[in-house]
Amino acid sequence: MKFDVCIFVPKEQPYNRGMASVLQCDTKRKAKKTMDFEIPRRFFGRNECCIMEKLIIQGRRRLVGEVTISGAKNAAVAVIPAAIMAEGTSTLENLPAIEDVRSLCHTIEKLGGICTYTDEHTLKIDCSNGTKHCATFEEVQKIRASYYFLGALLGRYKKAEVALPGGCNFGVRPIDLHLKGFRALGATVEECDGMVRAYAERLIGTSIYMDQVSVGATINIMLAACMAEGITTIENAAKEPHVVDTANYLNMMGANIKGAGTDVIRIYGVEKLHGAQYTIIPDQIEAGTYMIAAAITGGDVLVRNIIPKHMDSLSAKLDEMNVTIEEHDDSIRVTANKPLQCANVKTMSYPGFPTDLQPQIAALLGVCKGKSVITENVWENRYQYMDELRKLGAQVEIDGRQAWITGIPHFVGSCVCATDLRAGAAMILAGLAAEGETIIENVKYIDRGYENVEHKFNALGADITRVDE
Ligand code: UD1
Repeated sequence: MKFDVCIFVPKEQPYNRGMASVLQCDTKRKAKKTMDFEIPRRFFGRNECCIMEKLIIQGRRRLVGEVTISGAKNAAVAVIPAAIMAEGTSTLENLPAIEDVRSLCHTIEKLGGICTYTDEHTLKIDCSNGTKHCATFEEVQKIRASYYFLGALLGRYKKAEVALPGGCNFGVRPIDLHLKGFRALGATVEECDGMVRAYAERLIGTSIYMDQVSVGATINIMLAACMAEGITTIENAAKEPHVVDTANYLNMMGANIKGAGTDVIRIYGVEKLHGAQYTIIPDQIEAGTYMIAAAITGGDVLVRNIIPKHMDSLSAKLDEMNVTIEEHDDSIRVTANKPLQCANVKTMSYPGFPTDLQPQIAALLGVCKGKSVITENVWENRYQYMDELRKLGAQVEIDGRQAWITGIPHFVGSCVCATDLRAGAAMILAGLAAEGETIIENVKYIDRGYENVEHKFNALGADITRVDE
């Protein structure tokens, strides 16, 4: 593989901040420092070589055919850390083949567990001989959802030390609600040198009211509370499909969790968990991305292996925009053969419109007739990608949490950057609808969450090529 440039962040600096150097590498990976610069927040990791892969899209191809959706990333990143709570082996099926999953396996192995793939989507995790309770920065740097190791390790060992999360950057991403929950269960929680340390003699079930609906905090508290003494109640809990999926897996392991999927979850603590075989649910956001892809290309696509109920908020919105939606048991057919109408979209926690589909629907609204408004209610700074969309011609005005988008007949190809995972997906969608060639840089973000992305699109008739220089 040809290898030209990498970013080096000195080890002593805090993650995601400060100065970095550009190193010019030769093919033997011998590096020479060429310049220093202030590292942008969107760069990831440290001492990390990033091969500058790009996607090149020849746009305006109509997508037609069938696409099979992979397992849910956000469920996988919770279920994999949960597996370390078992005194035994778990077999996880329908895992997506994506970077975040590979990074989590790496972390489990560093902790002392054994991960064995029986095929590309099936993973056995054996932590029967116990694991370490400490996950350092080197082990967890690439994924924000590494915070789930806190809840899992605290639950099993009553002590956990985990480096603060990495992952996508769109606004402040606090974990105060997670830590408040652990404290309510009786743990002492300290934050020091980029690590979170939580420990307790005993975890005792209690009643926890979440100030704000948080997926991560709901799952993390659920993990720790599974092995607390007595009953824990989480009120104002998140209801996302992956909260339910994680609870279902924990119950298969011997936990006793009731009410997941409603806003009150009750967890009856148990002493031990055992291994279990579990199949991860389909990815709601990947499915939504392909549904929007069908709409933006005037296509006709059957999106297979999904739970149509999870898609309700998007299906309703697409219907409002003049897209035909045909629901089947485990698939949805999306046909776009009428002029697309503008719409207003407000992101909310489930069952509202998911914030993780906000950039993708923005790309679609960019080529719909009329003026649309998006209101982002979950993340305070999730419009960074709009500058990239503007490079393709999008007409956007932003004021705080709202974005006004005036539709144009079509985008025009340009060179854009994936500023985070879902923003990257939006760039692909915009590129598919753009006249001429679109080049997307920073593909690494997209690979974190989309399995075989260019192959799946190309099988539908897209023209996407990956290059690494
Ligand atoms: C999860 C998803 C992410 C999605 C988000 C919202 C995973 C791995 N990631 O992220 O893709 O965009 O849900 O659907 O599942 N908050 C606090 N304090 C906390 C935690 C959260 O104030 O301790 C706030 C956040 O700033 C945000 C809101 O709560 O405004 C929702 O965040 P949360 O649901 O926790 O998101 P994540 O679980 O991190």
